[in-house]
Amino acid sequence: MRAVVCKAWGPPEGLVVEDVPEPVPGAGDVLIRVRACGVNFADALIVQGKYQEKPSLPFTPGLEVAGEVVSMGKDVGGLGTGQRVVALCATGGYAEAATAPALVTVRIPDAMPCETAAGFMVAYGTAHIGLEHRAQLRPGETLLVHGAGGGVGLAAVEVGKAMGAMVIAAAGSEDKRALARRHGADHVIDYRDGKFKDVVKALTDGRGADVVFDPVGGQVFAQSMRCIAWEGRLLVIGFAAGDIPQVPAGLVLVKNIAMIGVYWGAYRMHEPAIITESLRRLFAWYEEGTLRPVISETLPLERAAEAMQRLLRREARGKVVLTTED
Ligand SMILES: NC(=O)c1ccc[n+]([C@@H]2O[C@H](COP(=O)([O-])OP(=O)(O)OC[C@H]3O[C@@H](n4cnc5c(N)ncnc54)[C@H](OP(=O)(O)O)[C@@H]3O)[C@@H](O)[C@H]2O)c1
Repeated sequence: MRAVVCKAWGPPEGLVVEDVPEPVPGAGDVLIRVRACGVNFADALIVQGKYQEKPSLPFTPGLEVAGEVVSMGKDVGGLGTGQRVVALCATGGYAEAATAPALVTVRIPDAMPCETAAGFMVAYGTAHIGLEHRAQLRPGETLLVHGAGGGVGLAAVEVGKAMGAMVIAAAGSEDKRALARRHGADHVIDYRDGKFKDVVKALTDGRGADVVFDPVGGQVFAQSMRCIAWEGRLLVIGFAAGDIPQVPAGLVLVKNIAMIGVYWGAYRMHEPAIITESLRRLFAWYEEGTLRPVISETLPLERAAEAMQRLLRREARGKVVLTTED
């Protein structure tokens, strides 16, 4: 089968596409004929050796796939061959076939194309588990979403609206702000000049945002601490800007703020049922038209490096997906 292979840590341009043996599902695993694979910021960091998880070389990147079940290892129940599924792989998704634990392999709605499904699970799962399970966002609260034109940010705008929040979407370009507005944001702001705290305060009658969803970090995080409400919850999602911020503990104390970490993929090891429950809710919202995922680009496996660069260069809108069809 064809697969993208990372043989040495470095920029995405070092990736190659090769014929490799098809993986064999172990006990509890499912073998999936991959139709599409989501491109995640984490993939671009993993191949550079800059992510918290470092697979041994050589390896095939790719965390989330959509396709059909081909076969199953021992001790797999509730799934059958030919079923259309999404799955969370440890690695190996940028390939024509991949294995994933059955516990995090979930059937997709009939109406959901594989390209959409492949870009759905990580982005919407992180947004939903972050906002509901971790921050306990309540209807009527104000949610500030950073990086709102990107994969996880745009998903958080939609999930926040579905949960009844007033959503302020922050993004660095006019077209990303327009995209966030089309997907439900009540207000859009430009956070590139680093002075957005006054705008957020003005939009919330001086109170600040109850929940901040931050996949960007750096200065954006620092400013967020200045416009978060008393008893606000700041969700630490990621550091797309590159800097891991330092927390000003004094502000955390005087404003009674909760800093809440969200590592969606870790639920795979600790509590996979939280992922599958969340997906059930998200698929229901998708089927009723509440969620409208944006797959802005679909590229073949051979263009995996280009796809990753789209994210690293801030060019991606919504999700970018790789497909295995010629
Ligand atoms: N914790 C979790 O479980 C989890 C799950 C998924 C993703 N994440 C993390 O969330 C972050 C975003 O992921 P994503 O998939 O949404 O990526 P994405 O689609 O590329 O979006 C990232 C956004 O960050 C903003 N950004 C600001 N500075 C940037 C820079 N120097 N380089 C690139 N982008 C920059 C960009 O928006 P503007 O151009 O508007 O500034 C961009 O739209 C990543 O750090 C990722 O690892 C975490």
